Amino acid sequence: MTKPESQSKTYSAGVLPKDKYDKLDQYISTLEDKEGSLIHILHKAQEIFTFLPQEVQLHIARHLDIPAAKVFGVTTFYSYFTSTPVGKHTISLCMGTACFVRGAEKIAHELKDKLNITSGGTTEDNLFTLKEVRCIGACGLAPIIMIDDKVFGRVKVENIDSILKEFKEEV
Ligand code: FES
Repeated sequence: MTKPESQSKTYSAGVLPKDKYDKLDQYISTLEDKEGSLIHILHKAQEIFTFLPQEVQLHIARHLDIPAAKVFGVTTFYSYFTSTPVGKHTISLCMGTACFVRGAEKIAHELKDKLNITSGGTTEDNLFTLKEVRCIGACGLAPIIMIDDKVFGRVKVENIDSILKEFKEEV
């Protein structure tokens, strides 16, 4: 699967919290075959940092004493890994044919406008990341959006506020 351009760029996040690096190092220290566990380490790192900026990938390469290119190769190959920040909630907006003909474009416009982001972007408060996806297999409920693993069907432009509110008010 080819990653969207916004995800394939490496991203430097500036100074990341030391306690997160400590947590990652502690996890790595429990592994016997460190180099053979690269994918597990990257999963753990993404869980801790929520994304894999260049400096975290370099940290892992140094820690395992392997070429940085090897780490970059893995994170670029697997679409699961992202080197750009993602929000607490991921909004997946279906742009498949059924959703498209039932107004997904209007929903997309409204979401982008309300969140002030483009597709692939993350809101300034890091609450939402917006992704446009292909058919998610529930065409009968088109148009559809998913927020994390929760599906919202037959979405209307006027529903968007109350849907987003549910996630904004979460503690
Ligand atoms: S096209 Fe959107 S769920 Fe199938």
